[in-house]
Amino acid sequence: MIQFSGVSKYYDGDVVLKDISFTIEKGELAYITGPSGAGKTTLLKLIYCAERPDTGQIVVAGWDVGKLKQGTIPFLRRNVGIVFQDFRLLFNKTVFDNIALALRIHDMQPREIKETVNNVLKDIRLKHKEHVFPQHLSGGEQQRIVIARAMVSRPTVLLADEPTGNLDMDTSRNIMGLFREINARGTTVLIATHNNALFHGTGRRVLYLNNTHIEKEAVG
Ligand SMILES: Nc1ncnc2c1ncn2[C@@H]1O[C@H](COP(=O)(O)OP(=O)(O)OP(=O)(O)O)[C@@H](O)[C@H]1O
Ligand SMILES: [Mg+2]
Repeated sequence: MIQFSGVSKYYDGDVVLKDISFTIEKGELAYITGPSGAGKTTLLKLIYCAERPDTGQIVVAGWDVGKLKQGTIPFLRRNVGIVFQDFRLLFNKTVFDNIALALRIHDMQPREIKETVNNVLKDIRLKHKEHVFPQHLSGGEQQRIVIARAMVSRPTVLLADEPTGNLDMDTSRNIMGLFREINARGTTVLIATHNNALFHGTGRRVLYLNNTHIEKEAVG
């Protein structure tokens, strides 16, 4: 589902990722970890084409991502959901509208949008907050809405960058549970985090990024 072959990435002549190869299988839920500055976010950005590789090939859900023309990127992004910290909610829109926006882009009919958004709100147990504006929600609730927005269009691949940020342990567990549910419904999930507690004991595959390459791979 996600395949890197000999991928390198430089910023201003400095190497961040060097000759990286790995595969994430369809239906997998896997983690990327490593110290701050190791290149976790960069690696995710390469997958959804926010950055381009300098060498090598990246194939995501059948798309040769490194070679995509600018105009084709939106089609890739319909299949790749992202939960990123710098990709926040719109504060002038209600919870319902924040999630519905992702579907309006998909040309869905209003009645179907309402039903789909309501179902996702039930999934994340925030149906009672549908008319609330995001600034009146707790950090953990906001993050659940961000995840709902990413999952509502049923992406083939879901990418998450430090999805539990500085949330408490209970809220973090709850959010990781949501990722497991999304994964159980068939979405391939890749989570970048420096927080070992998130993958410890999960039995899922963990890629350790350090010093420009994947240093080791283990089971969490
Ligand atoms: N747009 C950019 N321009 C130049 N350098 C960049 C850019 N983005 C990232 N870098 C550099 O690339 C390296 C990897 O950054 P990246 O954000 O991918 O690391 P990370 O593993 O996600 O770190 P963290 O755990 O702190 O989020 C860092 O040295 C960073 O300074
Ligand atoms: Mg990062």
